[in-house]
Amino acid sequence: MNLPNMQDAKKRTNKEVKTIKAQNIISDKFKNKLFFLKTYGCQMNVHDSEEIRGIVTNLGFRETLNYEEADLIILNTCAIRENAHDKVFGFLGRVKHLKKEKPELIVAVGGCMPQEEGVSHFLKEKYPFVNIVFGTHNIADLGKMILEQTGKQDIEVYSIEGDIYENIHYERDSKYSAWVNIMYGCDKFCTYCIVPFTRGKQRSRKMADIIEEVKDLKNKGYLEVTLLGQNVNAYGKDLEDNYDFATLLEEVAKIGIPRIRFVTSHPWDFTDKMIQVIAKYPNIMPYIHLPLQSGSSNILRLMGRRYTKEEYLTLYNKIKESIPNVSITTDIIVGFPNETEEDFKETLDVVNKCQFDGAYTFIYSPREGTPAALIKDNISLEEKEERLAILNDLINKYSLKANQKHLNKIDKVLITGVSEKGEDKVCGYTEDMKLVNVLNAKNDIGKIIDVEIIEAKSFSLDGKKVINI
Ligand code: SAH
Ligand code: SF4
Ligand code: F3S
Repeated sequence: MNLPNMQDAKKRTNKEVKTIKAQNIISDKFKNKLFFLKTYGCQMNVHDSEEIRGIVTNLGFRETLNYEEADLIILNTCAIRENAHDKVFGFLGRVKHLKKEKPELIVAVGGCMPQEEGVSHFLKEKYPFVNIVFGTHNIADLGKMILEQTGKQDIEVYSIEGDIYENIHYERDSKYSAWVNIMYGCDKFCTYCIVPFTRGKQRSRKMADIIEEVKDLKNKGYLEVTLLGQNVNAYGKDLEDNYDFATLLEEVAKIGIPRIRFVTSHPWDFTDKMIQVIAKYPNIMPYIHLPLQSGSSNILRLMGRRYTKEEYLTLYNKIKESIPNVSITTDIIVGFPNETEEDFKETLDVVNKCQFDGAYTFIYSPREGTPAALIKDNISLEEKEERLAILNDLINKYSLKANQKHLNKIDKVLITGVSEKGEDKVCGYTEDMKLVNVLNAKNDIGKIIDVEIIEAKSFSLDGKKVINI
């Protein structure tokens, strides 16, 4: 079904990737009806959910955070690890009960899961109460599918990635910080990863369209944009116009929006020109997420990452030396098939050398259809959990150390909302992406303010607003 042919990962010209104007259907058919939207997975899905929210609010729905009172429930799913599936099926179990009491309820499942081999079929067999199934390539069809819903199951998942939609109406989560897609899909095919299958091959947006979106966001008062792609430094490689990420980043910086971020960077394709541009422009934030995955060159080869331990360390040191006060976080997988105790020690060695500001750590989860799933998984769960615990202890030690460097210093913080740590506090991020809970700044939501850091923990900082007299 949905597995693209790896040989397809060839260059397409701008002419071949068509840009389509999104239709943005507007209707009042569902005026005063409520929708509940649950998002799983990465920032890509978070941003897709802003598109989904735009589509359903255009149909008259209003959002509720209580799924039990909703007339429409949408799950935007993730497929990256098996536990992502488990969460979705667990939630669908609860929705099944609700649907018995409320047969007119519309249930829609979209995102990465339906793009996987066999999942739509499984939903059809086991979850017949799900009304709509859509994939990552046809979010734009959702409005029509809801309007035409008759109570029967409607499954529409494209197996081949589509063209690029422009003019999308997003209902964004924040009024201050916005996601901006610069590309879709991924051509890297790391051997463990399902993303190239669920998101299709790489398609870069045209630079002019990205620039226009950022200018528009700036005019609307946004203070921060995060350029989004599975592998942002490969931006433009699918086009023939000598586009590259460094040029795009520089053009976005020149627009003058106060804060620019980008995720995710792959250590492969991280050019010197990128480093120079990041170092040159003060509005490009000194924060890089640079997934390591493993510190063992053997495992990296099996993962198809195309860099060695030494190459990662060289790049890491070059970035640290060239960009003042840069913070670097990473992703690490433990328990990849054939990962020996020695391999794992290599990972710990890289962590000790790099002293990352933070890391997302995962136990390897075989994904059907990926090459790694064919390698015999020869490490016990117990062993994997033990490695994860050892790794996490080390990571937390270095996160705390990195956070402590901020103690008693003054940081610029973009205040984005009320803190989870209590109503009297607000929260936001420093330039190098540290979460700060701030006292005495209730009127500063949506502003960049000076904050004195008074306490450092492993996962956040506490601070108080500096009153400039
Ligand atoms: N495009 C990004 C990663 C997207 S997925 C990149 O290349 O860095 C986010 C993270 O999930 C990955 O970095 C990896 O650490 C983890 N991941 C992906 N597939 C996984 C799998 N099969 N099992 C466990 N972790 C996985
Ligand atoms: Fe997955 Fe690798 Fe692509 Fe990241 S670069 S999305 S890990 S295939
Ligand atoms: Fe998950 Fe899809 Fe993102 S698989 S991590 S939501 S691209």
